[in-house]
Amino acid sequence: VSGATPVGPRPGGTGKASATVAMVGAGQLARMTHQAAISLGIELRVLAAGPGDCALAAGATGLLAGDDPLADLRELADGADVLTFDHEQIDPELLRRLEDEGVRLAPGAAAKLFAQDKLHARRELERLGFPLPPFAAAESLAEIEDFAGRHSWPLVAKAPRGGYDGRGVAFVEGAEDAARVLEEFGGTLLLEPRLDLERELAVLVARSESGEVALYPVVETVQADGMCREILAPAELPEGLARQAGELGVGIAEGIGAIGILAVELFLTGDGLLVNELALRPHNSGHYSIEGIETSQFEQHLRAVLGWPLGPTGLCGPAVVTVNLVGPPDGTDPRTLLGREIGAADAHVHLYGKDASPGRKLGHVTAVADDLQVARERARHLAERLGGLS
Ligand SMILES: Nc1ncnc2c1ncn2[C@@H]1O[C@H](COP(=O)(O)OP(=O)(O)OP(=O)(O)O)[C@@H](O)[C@H]1O
Ligand SMILES: [Mg+2]
Repeated sequence: VSGATPVGPRPGGTGKASATVAMVGAGQLARMTHQAAISLGIELRVLAAGPGDCALAAGATGLLAGDDPLADLRELADGADVLTFDHEQIDPELLRRLEDEGVRLAPGAAAKLFAQDKLHARRELERLGFPLPPFAAAESLAEIEDFAGRHSWPLVAKAPRGGYDGRGVAFVEGAEDAARVLEEFGGTLLLEPRLDLERELAVLVARSESGEVALYPVVETVQADGMCREILAPAELPEGLARQAGELGVGIAEGIGAIGILAVELFLTGDGLLVNELALRPHNSGHYSIEGIETSQFEQHLRAVLGWPLGPTGLCGPAVVTVNLVGPPDGTDPRTLLGREIGAADAHVHLYGKDASPGRKLGHVTAVADDLQVARERARHLAERLGGLS
């Protein structure tokens, strides 16, 4: 058994930080959290899966995971004020163990499970009375056909655990597809009818241990191939719907005891708003907040997990649009184009320092403007010139 390898100066060893936050994961969310941590003099200590993880490349201190996940988490948390997350892919049982040992987790293990297990989330949110798509658990073809009998094909089948960016989500046209998906995903599936989505929305809420809550404007998210491509803020919605989305966000944050940023993905259907899934960490739908909101989701997450007072969440302009830079099929790397193209539109570029590969989120572009159409055109234009608007 080899232990975790320290990277950079021994975390906490300098005694010069305003606080030390440990974060499981070292991807782009950790990288952008680190950027916010620098301004506040907070030391962000990350647990990276490999030396190339992009938060390490940006200078966060941390550990490279060894082959004993519990030992790694203990070492990561040792001496930090709080332990938080940049992803969901941690065994929930390990989080419960850490909590029992007295490690301060934000969010706690029970709240985090809502983002780790879609079936658990559906069952508990239903119990709490939140509006959801019809759903069922299924382990066999007979159960899937039974659900299809009640809701009709096509269905959506989801792996309850381990999915992201559309991986773990399958559109199922009929029994033949169903058999294949059962085989591929294994175990229990979460089934839903394929809904007619008018739009997809997301609402971010920050909640701190004191119970203080900060609500962000409702945004529209545009997906392709199960992956978020664009964020439009604020969503153009009738006042009543926007208010209802905000109330759902705050109600869920309080109902499940979320700490830090909670992102609630919503479906707008003919039957109104339905809760899709939750993330308890900074979220892609909040990337616009770096330039678009008085307090970015990354700073807010740090403040909330530390129990510090939260910052204001007003928009910095009438309209803000973020376009994700997704690696194009031809392998073009936005880094090689940036120096030539950065002036192509009045918009802000964020590159995550990741090697380009098709379909990978490599960065994002945000534009603030007087209306959504102009902001969208600017952000898209620059994203296209960087090769990442596929
Ligand atoms: N029941 C459904 N009906 C229609 N479309 C759906 C349904 N469920 C999911 N989708 C589509 O698939 C996308 C991905 O689904 P979901 O959010 O559950 O998966 P994910 O892979 O965990 O997502 P993420 O990209 O947020 O990590 C949704 O944003 C939506 O566009
Ligand atoms: Mg989703």
